[in-house]
Amino acid sequence: MTQSTLSRCALHQDPVRDDIPFYQPTGQEVALFEHAYRQRLPLLLKGPTGCGKTRFVRHMAARLGLPLHTVACHDDLTASDLTGRYLLKGGDTAWSDGPLTRAVREGGICYLDEVVEARKDVTVVLHPLTDDRRLLPLERTGERLEAPDDFMLVVSYNPGYQHILKTLKPSTRQRFVAISLDFPDADTEVDIVAHESGLSRGRCEALVNLAARLRAMKGQDLEEGVSTRLLIYCASLIQAGMPVLDAARAALLEPLSDDPDVLKGIEDVVTATFG
Ligand SMILES: Nc1ncnc2c1ncn2[C@@H]1O[C@H](COP(=O)(O)OP(=O)(O)OP(=O)(O)O)[C@@H](O)[C@H]1O
Ligand SMILES: [Mg+2]
Repeated sequence: MTQSTLSRCALHQDPVRDDIPFYQPTGQEVALFEHAYRQRLPLLLKGPTGCGKTRFVRHMAARLGLPLHTVACHDDLTASDLTGRYLLKGGDTAWSDGPLTRAVREGGICYLDEVVEARKDVTVVLHPLTDDRRLLPLERTGERLEAPDDFMLVVSYNPGYQHILKTLKPSTRQRFVAISLDFPDADTEVDIVAHESGLSRGRCEALVNLAARLRAMKGQDLEEGVSTRLLIYCASLIQAGMPVLDAARAALLEPLSDDPDVLKGIEDVVTATFG
């Protein structure tokens, strides 16, 4: 491990620093992330929308003192979007690094969010980088970049709503260590919602209880259970002075579905809790 990596590792020992985004662990994910980083292993995060994947990566980057390069993947994202391309500058062409190349050159975490959305040619770039070679070959410039010790690749996706064809090939998946994140247990979720919204724990408890009932509707009526993110929205609206039922309608009901029957079902659960 290089000197710079060691000094960066030392930073993580102070978890209460103000500049570290708040993250409440739900299991062993913090230790696992740190081990993966030290062993130079790439990491795959799975979990439903709004369960804290992005917050977790931001928290870990700050904790380890590493720059974070985030890419939101979409179905048009190509390998060149990650690695870079020649751009016209004046009358000349100049090479411009993409976010993945920048992270490999400078060190830090490259976070590919919703990686399954990216085009197939992206895996060609990721494969040599995510096995023991840790290499990024740049065909266009003829370079072969070796990833430094303080480079880490983190990818995430939501297994819930992916089309059956939009999944990672075994040869890609089996290059990562993986963590499944899910919604936290009730006590932890109350802590998170109270911390993020400023609403009292007591009032957050009622919202978290409601979330448990709404999550039980997942599968039968709802594609995804209500996220921690939506609970925080709802709590923030209540904290700002909005009546509870109005806040719950705006943050917990309307975002979940467009189907009138499903909405009626959710409304019944909401009014049974708060009405
Ligand atoms: N364990 C947690 N600790 C602290 N905050 C959390 C936690 N889980 C969720 N949150 C809060 O919930 C919000 C949503 O989390 P985040 O954006 O990280 O979800 P995500 O899993 O990345 O969702 P998506 O798949 O939609 O991108 C965050 O802004 C944060 O306020
Ligand atoms: Mg996210």
